[in-house]
Amino acid sequence: MADKSGAILVVDDEPEMRALLRDELSELGYRVVAVANGREALKKLGEEEYAVVLTDLRMQGMQGLELLNEVKQGYPGTNVIIMTAFGSVESAIEAMKHGAYDYVTKPIKNEEMALVVEKAVRDALLRREVQQLRRAVREDYSFHQILGKSKPMREVFDLIRRVADSQTNVLITGESGTGKELAAKAIHFNSDRRSGPFVPVNCAAIPEMLLESELFGHMKGAFTDAKGDKRGLFEEAHGGTLFLDEISELPVMLQAKLLRAIQEKEIRRVGSTKSIAVDVRIIAATNLSLTDEVKAKRFREDLYYRLNVIEIRMPPLRERREDILLLVDAFLKKCAEAGRKAVKGIAESALALLVDYPWPGNVRELENVIERAVTLTRGEKVTSEDLPPAIHGSRGDRKVIDDAADRTLPLDEVEKEYILRILDKTGGNKYQAAQILGIDRKTLYRKLGEIDGKIHHEG
Ligand SMILES: Nc1ncnc2c1ncn2[C@@H]1O[C@H](COP(=O)(O)OP(=O)(O)OP(=O)(O)O)[C@@H](O)[C@H]1O
Ligand SMILES: [Mg+2]
Repeated sequence: MADKSGAILVVDDEPEMRALLRDELSELGYRVVAVANGREALKKLGEEEYAVVLTDLRMQGMQGLELLNEVKQGYPGTNVIIMTAFGSVESAIEAMKHGAYDYVTKPIKNEEMALVVEKAVRDALLRREVQQLRRAVREDYSFHQILGKSKPMREVFDLIRRVADSQTNVLITGESGTGKELAAKAIHFNSDRRSGPFVPVNCAAIPEMLLESELFGHMKGAFTDAKGDKRGLFEEAHGGTLFLDEISELPVMLQAKLLRAIQEKEIRRVGSTKSIAVDVRIIAATNLSLTDEVKAKRFREDLYYRLNVIEIRMPPLRERREDILLLVDAFLKKCAEAGRKAVKGIAESALALLVDYPWPGNVRELENVIERAVTLTRGEKVTSEDLPPAIHGSRGDRKVIDDAADRTLPLDEVEKEYILRILDKTGGNKYQAAQILGIDRKTLYRKLGEIDGKIHHEG
């Protein structure tokens, strides 16, 4: 059965017409409220949500067109169907131009009205549902650009919130591309240091020779290239957060110097004997196991404990597959907003491949895969063909069932095809078909009527 929980607001200044429509639509299973004019209609709309407004075009006081405009402005989720006298189709077309969902001509033919209303209600409810989902995504499933609704991610969000306001140093661990830097930023921007600087340093990217002066600064003449005094990143980060990425790559000599800076809360520029007080919170990140590095004597144990007051482990994507759809959705939107092709979604079969894949490169890899797919795709939806071979490989023998999704059929086409196929299967036995489809026979007859109608129209 179609979902009929959507309410309908009937607006007509003729009492008999109101009564007729109310009876007719109630019989079809809708909740109906009928009012005599546009002003009353707006009042009702302010009180509760209607899926559809069915309004006469010519009324005393506020005209149907004016009401239409009000509804479009104030209640964009509500579909407006216009009733217009037979023979004044131009006015109906005018109304469609102003955003009416559809129109029916008076005298009203019940079947026609039932079809139009059902479609309008269904669309409105579907749209509402999608909006609710989107809102939920925005509100609950993101934390400072970190998306995730899975349990491991919710735990991460929780931990970030709790550590943010403390002054303790934090160690963020996790594989490449799991969002360690995002987490570091989230901590900074949720802490009382948020108005201070966030200074990231990638310890692996800066040559060992330069790293010391980058971090701690230098005095003029401290070494050949030191043409003037220079502040280091520690000083830059004063009052804020210093993010030491890939901390495992910090040379042992600098590990000692970092330890001193943390313990004494002061640094000394290269070539200087003067200590400078710094108020810096340190967040370090690594994709190696620092305990292994400690065991192998590549990383100082005392520094490890100083950095790792609290550890936040970013879970790999394969341990939270329920976040994949959320991320795909967000990356598609990001591509569209960046002025790239506006791709509307992703085929079920493609999504199934993505959910199956082990994601060694985690979210970064997923983001790249989606960007690539958006560039490659020819249609409005990303299909499995747009995904790189590596992702196809992992799925192996599992069957991809959703050819309908691949062909990006609209819902009612899929329904039509499916109904006809099931009827075929049952040798035309409508009773059996209705049972398989989980609808009653009347609904099946109605849907078949729709299909016939369409076939007639099309051919
Ligand atoms: N949970 C997430 N939600 C949204 N985007 C994410 C998430 N995790 C990671 N990303 C995105 O993935 C990319 C990699 O994230 P980030 O740089 O924070 O990872 P990383 O753990 O620091 O990786 P690496 O170890 O390679 O430096 C970024 O573009 C980031 O925006
Ligand atoms: Mg990083």
